[in-house]
Amino acid sequence: ASKEFSKMIEAHELIRKFYHHLLVNTKDGQHALEYLLNRGFTLASIEKFQIGYALNSWDFVYKFLTKRNFEPELLERCGLIIKREKDETYFDRFRDRIMFPILDQKGNTIAFSGRSLGADEPKYLNSPETAIFNKSKILYNFHLARASIRKQQQVILFEGFADCIAAERAGVENGVATMGTSLTSEHIALIRRNAEAVTVCYDSDSAGIEAAYRAATMLAEAGSHVRVALMPDGLDPDDYIKKFGAEKFNKEIIGSSLTFMSFKLLYFRRGKDLQNEGDRLQYIEEVLMEISQLDKAVERDHYLRQLANEFSLSLEALKEQQRQLYFAGK
Ligand code: CTP
Ligand code: MN
Ligand code: MN
Ligand code: MN
Ligand code: MN
Repeated sequence: ASKEFSKMIEAHELIRKFYHHLLVNTKDGQHALEYLLNRGFTLASIEKFQIGYALNSWDFVYKFLTKRNFEPELLERCGLIIKREKDETYFDRFRDRIMFPILDQKGNTIAFSGRSLGADEPKYLNSPETAIFNKSKILYNFHLARASIRKQQQVILFEGFADCIAAERAGVENGVATMGTSLTSEHIALIRRNAEAVTVCYDSDSAGIEAAYRAATMLAEAGSHVRVALMPDGLDPDDYIKKFGAEKFNKEIIGSSLTFMSFKLLYFRRGKDLQNEGDRLQYIEEVLMEISQLDKAVERDHYLRQLANEFSLSLEALKEQQRQLYFAGK
């Protein structure tokens, strides 16, 4: 099996280098390079993340690798080529796409994600699960970010490739991404082994905010110190950095991230009209529920006062109700 694994990695490494060459040095890759530069990618990040380009061809990868003595069956098991049912010939999985190599913790290329240049669906096409690629265990960029993560004892968690890469350009060296899947218990275990704290920096659209709530909840339950960074107007980190620049991103987004509790206070407000009595009472109850789960009396007191002030409620009444919830939950 280990012979098979190293062969699979070797195939990925060879094609990664060639994809990169095609993007950076050839006329065939020029439109892809222009696309990336227009989006704000730099040559330095294209180099660092070894981004490449897959030609608009049905058999380029097939020919390139079989010529170098890789068996088609192995390449199929890699997910790099796909077998046609009707005549058992093969075609390349990735065609006319920007190629993001996905590395394991040792820095071996084990999979790819290919982004379409236009409106082609899917926007990102990923390698399938293979003997060497288990999506639920891999965090994009963990290999490069690891040293910084351990040193800072902190992970910045993003949704996507572009976010992770834009943030790196902005000076964030401890960023990793889940590549669109939800955060798994294996991802969390990997994070817990390497850092105490996590800042969840997902897209600030409604899907991203829901996913951030779920991720932050799971991380907090696993014992991480969790903060959540939000951007205005439904932007994602890459959009934000392009629009407002690196300095503002570091200061006003990462540097002004919310405690998990403060994020929850905002989260529970979504879709509610606090002028409406029913919504307001529901909100207050949800917040009291959260407060009753805080370990520290000082923290409970802080949020109770905040709630009392905001809604002109008696602190005594809030405390009484919170105590009831607290004992109900024991
Ligand atoms: N994703 C995926 N398949 C898709 C769409 C998304 O695997 N069809 C993953 C990718 O890893 C992507 C992440 O989910 O980076 C977040 O999705 P989204 O926010 O839609 O993409 P962006 O990262 O913002 O991509 P871009 O900026 O290139 O549009
Ligand atoms: Mn290069
Ligand atoms: Mn998104
Ligand atoms: Mn996004
Ligand atoms: Mn984006």
